[in-house]
Amino acid sequence: MKREKFSSKVGFVLACIGAAIGLGNIWMFPYRLGQYGGAAFLIPYFIFVFGLGTIGLMTEFSFGRRFKGGSSTGLSKILKDKGIKFNRLISLIPAIGLMGVFMFYNIVIGWIIKYFGMSITGNISKVDIPNYFNSFAGTSSSIFFNFIAIAITLGIVYLGVTKGIEKINKIIMPALFIIFILLAIRSLTLPNAMEGVKYLLTPDFSYLLKPETWVMALGQAFFTVSLNGCGMVVYGSYIDKDFDIPKSAFSTAVLDTSAALLVSFVIMPAVFSFGLDPQAGPPLLFITMPTIFKSMPGGHILSVIFFLSILFAAISSSINMLEGPVEALMEKTKITRKKASILVALIGFILSIPLNLSMSGFDNFTNLITIVISPIATLIVALTFYFMHGADNVLEEVNIGAKRKLGDGFIVMGKYVFSITTICVIVLGIVYGGIG
Ligand code: ALA
Repeated sequence: MKREKFSSKVGFVLACIGAAIGLGNIWMFPYRLGQYGGAAFLIPYFIFVFGLGTIGLMTEFSFGRRFKGGSSTGLSKILKDKGIKFNRLISLIPAIGLMGVFMFYNIVIGWIIKYFGMSITGNISKVDIPNYFNSFAGTSSSIFFNFIAIAITLGIVYLGVTKGIEKINKIIMPALFIIFILLAIRSLTLPNAMEGVKYLLTPDFSYLLKPETWVMALGQAFFTVSLNGCGMVVYGSYIDKDFDIPKSAFSTAVLDTSAALLVSFVIMPAVFSFGLDPQAGPPLLFITMPTIFKSMPGGHILSVIFFLSILFAAISSSINMLEGPVEALMEKTKITRKKASILVALIGFILSIPLNLSMSGFDNFTNLITIVISPIATLIVALTFYFMHGADNVLEEVNIGAKRKLGDGFIVMGKYVFSITTICVIVLGIVYGGIG
């Protein structure tokens, strides 16, 4: 079977941006920006996302392109050549980790679909918002919506790289930015919106002396550009030799950061305008924002648009999360994309049922995947690629098709700084109980 490919460079970058922009940008970044020193937080964040996030992206794109396959292909080849035992098993860790991310992420997408539907029908303004979320999430009522979320992602991945993944991102990524800009304008013109802007931007440099600020910026940077040793590897495996990897990595980080900043100006001015407390995570999306829409003129339509944009952001990440394990299954068993995608989606759905039924189960599972498995998978790919396949070979691959060639500085950054920082991400994640 001929390997599928992205049909254009723009299509590839949009797919990567789609993978990167997700819930991390929406329910984590604005809160952390405000909570860890306002504009001062941007200093460590920019250092990590541009200094290390881009190195991670370049590493993963090159790994995929070099071995013309997802991480299981490259890993099993290198590890086997080196005579490492259990190479097949180790090679599957990144895809298994990404499958885990796909599972918890789609439970949340199910909640988003439910709130999107309730916004359309107007039922969202009829429920007791603070209590409603707890009566829905963590109960059997969410299973159906989880199924719909997985079915939508499956529908796209089933169609393949160009007809599905590339096409959908080309439509929804520009749409997402337009919606965010319109919503930010609305939010910034609310009474007292400037309180939110002050919360986000007034720099408090004393936060730079607190280790936690740096730890959270690091975790944010790794999660937001989707470093997990699989998703970006698989997208990198669909590009040709004339694609510019450093430029694509940089564009992904820039647009992902732009989306995070933009969405901060959608959320925080509205939160402060309505005198609510800034929050992170599910309470922000499913309690604070609906409370605002309920009491806002035109809130009905804004709520529909808001949840639609969140859906776009989350689905474009979910596609990447399904593509990783699907590609691994196709590669290992040689079954068709159609069969592999249905099989992985179905297994993901069935395994997610218990997680739908218990919020503590959901939290424990999410922590296991994001704190332990995903960063370990990132580390496995980095160590194998730089130390076993050879840093010179990595540099050679990164520079193929690149307009501005990278030098030995890249090797130092990738082989040592990135690898050591990834170890720090694992250790700090465990110490802090989650940083990504
Ligand atoms: N990078 C994606 C996010 O931020 C997974 O949610």
